[in-house]
Amino acid sequence: MKAALALIRILVVVHAVVADTSTTPFDDFFPEERDALMQMRDVVNSTANLHRNWTGPPCFQDQSQWVGITCSNWHVTHLILEGISLTGSLPPAFLQNITFLTILSFKRNSLYGTLPNLTNLAYLQVVRLSHNSFSGSIPSEYAELPKLTKFELQGNNIDGPIPPFDQQTLTDFNVSYNRLEGPIPKTSILQSFPDSSYEHNSGLCGTPLRIPCPVSPPLPVPSPGAPPGKKESLQVWSIVLIAAASALIPFSVMLVFLCYYRRVQGKNSQAEQEPGEGFMDHVEKKMHWSEGGEDPEKTVELQFFDKDRPVFDLDDLLRASAEVVGKGKLGTTYKTVLESGLVVAVKRLKEMNALSKKEFIQQMQLLGRTRHENLVEIVSFYYSKEEKLVVYDFVPDGSLFELLHETRGIGRVPVSWSTRLSIIKDIAKGLSFLHQFLASHKVPHANLKSSNVLIQRISQNQYRSKLTEFGFLPLLPSRKSSELLAIQKSPEFGQGKKLTHKADVYCFGIILLEVITGKIPGGHSEEADEDEHHDLSNWVRMVVQSDWSTDILDMEIVAAKDGYEEMLRLTELALECTDTAPEKRPKMCQVLRRIEEIEKTSHDQQRES
Ligand SMILES: *[C@@H]1O[C@H](CO)[C@@H](O)[C@H](O)[C@H]1NC(C)=O
Ligand SMILES: *[C@@H]1O[C@H](CO)[C@@H](O)[C@H](O)[C@H]1NC(C)=O
Ligand SMILES: *[C@@H]1O[C@H](CO)[C@@H](O)[C@H](O)[C@H]1NC(C)=O
Ligand SMILES: *[C@@H]1O[C@H](CO)[C@@H](O)[C@H](O)[C@H]1NC(C)=O
Ligand SMILES: *[C@@H]1O[C@H](CO)[C@@H](O)[C@H](O)[C@H]1NC(C)=O
Repeated sequence: MKAALALIRILVVVHAVVADTSTTPFDDFFPEERDALMQMRDVVNSTANLHRNWTGPPCFQDQSQWVGITCSNWHVTHLILEGISLTGSLPPAFLQNITFLTILSFKRNSLYGTLPNLTNLAYLQVVRLSHNSFSGSIPSEYAELPKLTKFELQGNNIDGPIPPFDQQTLTDFNVSYNRLEGPIPKTSILQSFPDSSYEHNSGLCGTPLRIPCPVSPPLPVPSPGAPPGKKESLQVWSIVLIAAASALIPFSVMLVFLCYYRRVQGKNSQAEQEPGEGFMDHVEKKMHWSEGGEDPEKTVELQFFDKDRPVFDLDDLLRASAEVVGKGKLGTTYKTVLESGLVVAVKRLKEMNALSKKEFIQQMQLLGRTRHENLVEIVSFYYSKEEKLVVYDFVPDGSLFELLHETRGIGRVPVSWSTRLSIIKDIAKGLSFLHQFLASHKVPHANLKSSNVLIQRISQNQYRSKLTEFGFLPLLPSRKSSELLAIQKSPEFGQGKKLTHKADVYCFGIILLEVITGKIPGGHSEEADEDEHHDLSNWVRMVVQSDWSTDILDMEIVAAKDGYEEMLRLTELALECTDTAPEKRPKMCQVLRRIEEIEKTSHDQQRES
């Protein structure tokens, strides 16, 4: 056996020398945003010659490369093409993928066809489509754009009714010089604009225009002999009504919050605090939701990513019972049971108070779209100046750290070799996906350690692992604050060098060693601080220099002699992953492939024996 081990060691050294010198820098742009803009480029003509200018990535190193585009955080945020004789019909849904768009302006061009679909553009503030030749009606979804401040549509050929816009953010609204018809909806915001916002529309009536509407009932009873045209407008009306109703729902959520906010404020001022176990009690000990004077409306932000899931509001969350399940450097995690019975994990982030609302929301929005069976799903989040919450799916069976290191001794159920291998594979799958999905991130996970690998028990000896606390590096802008993350253990961080995806690979290597050896990296407690980096590198070196004997293996798996070959191949991989030179570490996709190969030979062996 010793001879075989020595051979492997030589192979490792040779391999490390020739390994992977071709780390390519990642192009910082989002391909789906580029594809969306290309769809448009290819169907319009203009005096700006977009065909020649819109090539390469739209945003490179966070700078716009394309005329009419502004970038922020590598995302396209403004699309402004005004007065350049833009001619053509826009692809109907092309803007859907430009998730972080805040300003859209095509004013004074010659665009025709229906208005673009703006559904889901949650950050869109300014829409200027005036003085074109757009036709069709105003999509009812426009009335649901949550951040809309300016809407200009004057000088087109738009017909149909005005949807019940009621965004309190709206400051400018102009639909004059179109062919709109029907009463102007009685929402407070639409009633607040002057008549010049509405004039020169053939069929529009009601205030603020001084044209009385002929029939008052908004939903006329259909008569059997009604012409087909009537039927269609009926449908339009019911859509408008539904839209109005759904616009009211977020509003009532806000009302509930406002009431609660008052109650909380009142409670604080009377300084009466009953002891309890509600989430609110945990939260209240350290802070108030909103300090006096701040407009609570501005801070309400409990956003959900999956519309098929049960939704709750902040009030529900505050009333829920809560229990601390983890305290880390980034914050405390609570197991929170809502009155509806729904269980979620709520992480209260500390250390992120310098963060702007926009930065936080953009990042959470991105992370919320990150879906994989080996990643803990983000359900929702909340932002206020003092308090940032991330609501995750609750994963019931603890962490890998607990599974490996806790309840050692009598009564412990050992973790078998095949279980360990499957856990490792799950982690590699989750991380490999993150490296693809968040390719533009410097270090996509950045906080990978065994306590951030959560475990779900599927059956007696079968587990699924899910990574959590990923994607927070962009939220920690200073070096001091990024020291809170697991990547601070990597040699390049210690040396103040540039960080890459390979810092995650290093952390993965440490977990591999931890799973193989059953030892806690970097000392005896999970949160060992000061000397952690030092201890850990010593520990890794110790493992490397140890005489490649089975002494390094966790006692619990030493007995599984059949698995020695795979255990040693995995150790070899772990040592490559923890190479001090980042460029010598394999990429995550290569790591995953090798683990799958190791697993396959392991299965084959089991079948043979
Ligand atoms: C948005 O991007 C996704 C993924 O690239 C793609 O499948 C989809 O077709 C795009 N949607 C539109 C409307 O272009
Ligand atoms: C596109 O035009 C902008 C502004 O005119 C210019 O800065 C940029 O270099 C051009 N890009 C390409 C690819 O030609
Ligand atoms: C754009 O210009 C080309 C060549 O002049 C012409 O064939 C095409 O129809 C134009 N497209 C539009 C949408 O006007
Ligand atoms: C706009 O896009 C959304 C989401 O892609 C879709 O559900 C909706 O039906 C579209 N609206 C129209 C009018 O096509
Ligand atoms: C609306 O647009 C029309 C035409 O451009 C303009 O005359 C009018 O003053 C505008 N009204 C408002 C309130 O902006």
